[in-house]
Amino acid sequence: MEERKVPEHIGIIMDGNGRWAKKRGLPRSEGHKAGANVFRRICDYADEIGIKYITFYAFSTENWRRPPDEVAALMDLFRDYLHEAEERREENKEKGMRIHFIGHREGVPQDITELFDTTEEESRDAGRIDVNIAINYGGRLEITDAVKAIARKVKSGELDPEDITEDDISANIYTAGQPDPDLIIRPSGEYRLSNFLLWQSAYSEFWTTDILWPDFTTDDFDRAIDDYNSRARRFGAV
Ligand code: FPP
Repeated sequence: MEERKVPEHIGIIMDGNGRWAKKRGLPRSEGHKAGANVFRRICDYADEIGIKYITFYAFSTENWRRPPDEVAALMDLFRDYLHEAEERREENKEKGMRIHFIGHREGVPQDITELFDTTEEESRDAGRIDVNIAINYGGRLEITDAVKAIARKVKSGELDPEDITEDDISANIYTAGQPDPDLIIRPSGEYRLSNFLLWQSAYSEFWTTDILWPDFTTDDFDRAIDDYNSRARRFGAV
């Protein structure tokens, strides 16, 4: 049993795949492939140690600007994972993994969004760990979507603008009903949120490492959690 306090929700920005591949003289797509395997390992490990929610940043709304062959390679990796999830339906149920895809579905190839639906549907009753996979996700877009939903309620007379609270925003973002991330991990030596969970990360602890995502191990994940345990979260109080 875990002695230390594991965060309830961890967010991960899977960064450094391109540099990992470049260092080895490989195409960037090989870095993403290695990164996808690390995603699987960390996902399983998070479940093993009792994390309740984990959010992976897999593809941002800005990532469409990458070369078409790189975008296609990433979509292929998502497809592989989704087919695998279909094949391992029973195993995943046992693992208790409830999977959610957060982000805009428009723009993502239809065969993939159909697999998003099946995967979400089939894992709906699992309840040990909620895994959010952010694909075609942008934090500003998410907040804009929430504002639109609230504006529609105002327009229909259901809601008075003066009564809008932070809880209304929280209830209209993609992670509605889930706790905000306690800890956000970003490998590859960058110190940016890059449009990830902007609303949810108001009080998240941030942990970075120079290690590139394809080299990231369960030991690194443990180090991040140990470090989180040593921090005092004051939420603005003293
Ligand atoms: C950023 O590294 C990484 C991405 C844009 C893609 C992340 C996606 C995966 C690891 C695949 C996940 C797979 C599944 C099935 C969810 P980068 O390419 O920007 O790295 P660089 O900064 O070194 O160039």
